[in-house]
Amino acid sequence: MNLNTKTTRIAPEEIDRQRAFCAQIRARNSARAAQPLAFVDTYGCQQNEADSERLRGYLAEMGYAFTSDEHEADVILINTCAIREHAEHRVLGNVGALVHTKRAKPGQIICVCGCMAQEPHVAQKIKDSFRQVDLVFGPHALWKFPELFYRVYTRRGRVFEITDEPGSIAEGIPVVRQNGIKAWVSIMYGCNNFCTYCIVPYVRGRERSRDPEVILSEIRALVDEGYRDITLLGQNVNSYGKDLGLGVDFSDLLEQAAAIPGDFLLRFMTSHPKDASQKLFDVMGRCEKVAPHFHLPFQSGSTRVLEAMNRRYTREGYLEKVRALRAAVPDVVITSDVIVGFPGETQAEFEETLSLIEEVRFDALFTFIYSPRRGTPAAGMDDPMSKEDKAANFQRLAARQDEISEERHAAYVGRTVRCLVDGEDGKGLTARTPGNRLVRLEGDRSLIGRFVEIRMTGSNKWSLTGEPVKD
Ligand code: 5AD
Ligand code: SF4
Repeated sequence: MNLNTKTTRIAPEEIDRQRAFCAQIRARNSARAAQPLAFVDTYGCQQNEADSERLRGYLAEMGYAFTSDEHEADVILINTCAIREHAEHRVLGNVGALVHTKRAKPGQIICVCGCMAQEPHVAQKIKDSFRQVDLVFGPHALWKFPELFYRVYTRRGRVFEITDEPGSIAEGIPVVRQNGIKAWVSIMYGCNNFCTYCIVPYVRGRERSRDPEVILSEIRALVDEGYRDITLLGQNVNSYGKDLGLGVDFSDLLEQAAAIPGDFLLRFMTSHPKDASQKLFDVMGRCEKVAPHFHLPFQSGSTRVLEAMNRRYTREGYLEKVRALRAAVPDVVITSDVIVGFPGETQAEFEETLSLIEEVRFDALFTFIYSPRRGTPAAGMDDPMSKEDKAANFQRLAARQDEISEERHAAYVGRTVRCLVDGEDGKGLTARTPGNRLVRLEGDRSLIGRFVEIRMTGSNKWSLTGEPVKD
């Protein structure tokens, strides 16, 4: 693994060169009888969603339209996630099944990218056992997708590009966003924390921050285009800027973004508790455009386990941050991630996790059973607790959190909250509270994309129901 911390900035001419490959492919595609179609299938986190938006940007420049049907797609691009074994199995199952689609549609080009592609043993497995896959590239190579794709498109054999680089920053890649209301903006890439269970630093490289001016102009442009909900993304946004030496930290960036004129909300994820600062809490408290939502993963309620995870905070330290956050941002919605069954976690230590959720009362919690990741320190640790005991603990934790979420949601009923109506599904319109809780409502489609005062009339453990207040 490459521990070099030097960030390469990809020269603008390099991106121009990539776009020239897009133009060449476009010229050939336009000679076809019908516009060719691409299917981009994304697994995992918002960072992957954001990467897929750039891959779609390149594909659109190549002349592709988009489909979500793998049978009719001329190009299939699977953007993978390596965070847990379960996610990997799903991806490999789906990639395996593409053997049939390709048989039915010879000439189909199948690409696998993302975090799994950056794991050497996965790339090897695809090379040996998934002959239907034409192109494999990791997150480090995303910026040169057109060049790699061109090689496959012109039938120069299978291409595997998974060089282990410290990481780069590329600006100027075209973007096709899925939705005209909510946008992700990556502010940094990679992670330096090396939590002992986590694969991310190995597949996404070291922390590197984008230039603040470039980020701010991207946000300005999004607001001008009518985006209403903008999430600043990074594996650990709280360490934004440390590598730049410009004297701009995450709180400064957030405050500057919040000063951009327009009617929009800013969110961010994810924060590491060790770096979540009072300065950031204060910026949230005083900037109206910063949504009162904080995703603050705690991972374990036991200080001993936190140390084994290399999290570098204690249970008390975490609780202290939560108190400070609530004091600075009244009514803040706090969500979190937790891992059950970390190697060596005892029953008593699990009970500490339960008591922590009792103490904090998160609005929502993402609960995961520990999944060993090859090459991480935790994968080599003693793990005496049985799968069944871990599963039973997981169930208990999830059941208790469901009750807490339900109680928290019930407290909204009767209140009127300004929410962003962000879409519709089979059950009607959907909206989000500033704290990002899901609201279901009946109403006209013309409300989509607007902030609307909604009176909350009902709730369950997953969501709220409400009705627009007539003015
Ligand atoms: N096993 C289980 N959960 C994990 N996470 C990260 N790595 C693992 C793993 N090996 C969880 C953490 C993190 C979230 C995105 O995924 O809780 O915050
Ligand atoms: Fe993984 Fe820890 Fe980095 Fe989050 S902070 S991406 S859990 S190593």
